[in-house]
Amino acid sequence: MQAIVLAAGMGKRMRSSRPKVLHEIFGRPILDYVLEILGRLGINRVKVVIGHGGDQVRSFLKKRSGTLRTEIVYQHEQKGTGHAVMCAQKAFRGYYGNILIWPGDMPVLKEETLKVFLQNHQSSGAEVSVLSSPQLNPAGYGRILRAGGRFYAIREELECSEVEHRIQEVNSGIYIFKSDRLFKSLRRIKPANRKNEFYLTDTLEVLAGAKCRLEAFPLALPDEGHGINSREDLGEVTAIMNHREIRKHQASGVTFTAPEQTFVAPGVSIGRDTVIYPWTYIESQVKIGEGCEIGPFAKIRKGTVIGSGTIVGSFVELNRSRLGKKVLAKHLTYLGDAEIGDGTNIGAGTITANFDGKTKHKTKVGKGVLIGSDTVFVAPVVVGDGARTGAGAVITGGSKIKKGEVFVGVPARNLKKKKTK
Ligand code: UD1
Ligand code: CA
Repeated sequence: MQAIVLAAGMGKRMRSSRPKVLHEIFGRPILDYVLEILGRLGINRVKVVIGHGGDQVRSFLKKRSGTLRTEIVYQHEQKGTGHAVMCAQKAFRGYYGNILIWPGDMPVLKEETLKVFLQNHQSSGAEVSVLSSPQLNPAGYGRILRAGGRFYAIREELECSEVEHRIQEVNSGIYIFKSDRLFKSLRRIKPANRKNEFYLTDTLEVLAGAKCRLEAFPLALPDEGHGINSREDLGEVTAIMNHREIRKHQASGVTFTAPEQTFVAPGVSIGRDTVIYPWTYIESQVKIGEGCEIGPFAKIRKGTVIGSGTIVGSFVELNRSRLGKKVLAKHLTYLGDAEIGDGTNIGAGTITANFDGKTKHKTKVGKGVLIGSDTVFVAPVVVGDGARTGAGAVITGGSKIKKGEVFVGVPARNLKKKKTK
């Protein structure tokens, strides 16, 4: 199967200078989530229709890594979803299989859900299938029309009669079409509607008239059918994804004392019996061990690894850092590009000055170290096992504190050496 992702629209309702599909959820563009699901489904030939903000979308696609092969199709003028698909027709020359169509603004769907949809499509013998979704508030979506249970058309909201308005089964915007059915029916639709656009959804009624076998398979849960048209949608979808991640971690033995006030990006691993306190923000690619305490008010940034039994307390930010087991960093600390050994105690107010304006430098602290409150490490710095720093010490760039040594002052000097002189 091949796929088309529609990403040319301007996303007017976002009121933004950035193309809609590049708006981010947990630091990743909406479109990236869509492409990831397609890749996981094993669909690795994808035509992406771009237009509005096309240069930006194209450079995002170029930078994206992975095995998925995307081919760019331009829609120079955005004349509707049907028109966007027409623009991709040439790119399908000689292809007669099924085409999965996916709007670039639908990032919440799960791989398993899509697999069920693909299976339903196959076993039903339909030539065209639509993934529908139950929505208590169907505003903004196309409605699924059925007669005697049989699906026969999609009606866009602006064109709905009063009765149709009340229909709560809506179009997710995800379809499977046999390619000849798709392109033939597209030739027969007209922009005769309130928006003067070619609606892809008008092809369904055309196909029903041509005795094509159509099916609409409803999603079990409405959440996954949530698209993004506005900033309000963006907030809601972010919350849906966040709660999904939190439920996953709860199921594997993690406590969240205030799940509604905690933020966990997809792609985080957390060991059992770890407790996460409110207002903690955890970015992707973070790994937290077992039996840790995190937060309240902790920010754990990308690529950070925290060993088991470690406590990361209030107003602590960790960035690309690696903390060992049973480390205590309980208050008011920034650790960037740092490596902290097992059992080390980081005093309140400790800061790594890891950026010199050009480059980031590392701070390497050994095991069982006692860092005095308000210590500043001007990286690069190396601190041996069992060493200590006094309160307020400023450890200047390039310093190497050896095993068991005690450094104090501003700039910090070796306490023992000074005494013996
Ligand atoms: C569309 C569907 C609607 C469905 C909803 C689900 C149509 C006419 N309506 O409405 O039935 O319930 O999605 O989310 O298809 N795009 C282009 N070129 C264009 C216009 C749009 O590439 O000329 C892209 C957009 O970038 C977007 C996708 O197509 O990713 C859907 O467009 P959008 O304007 O968001 O459609 P909806 O109003 O949400
Ligand atoms: Ca949409």
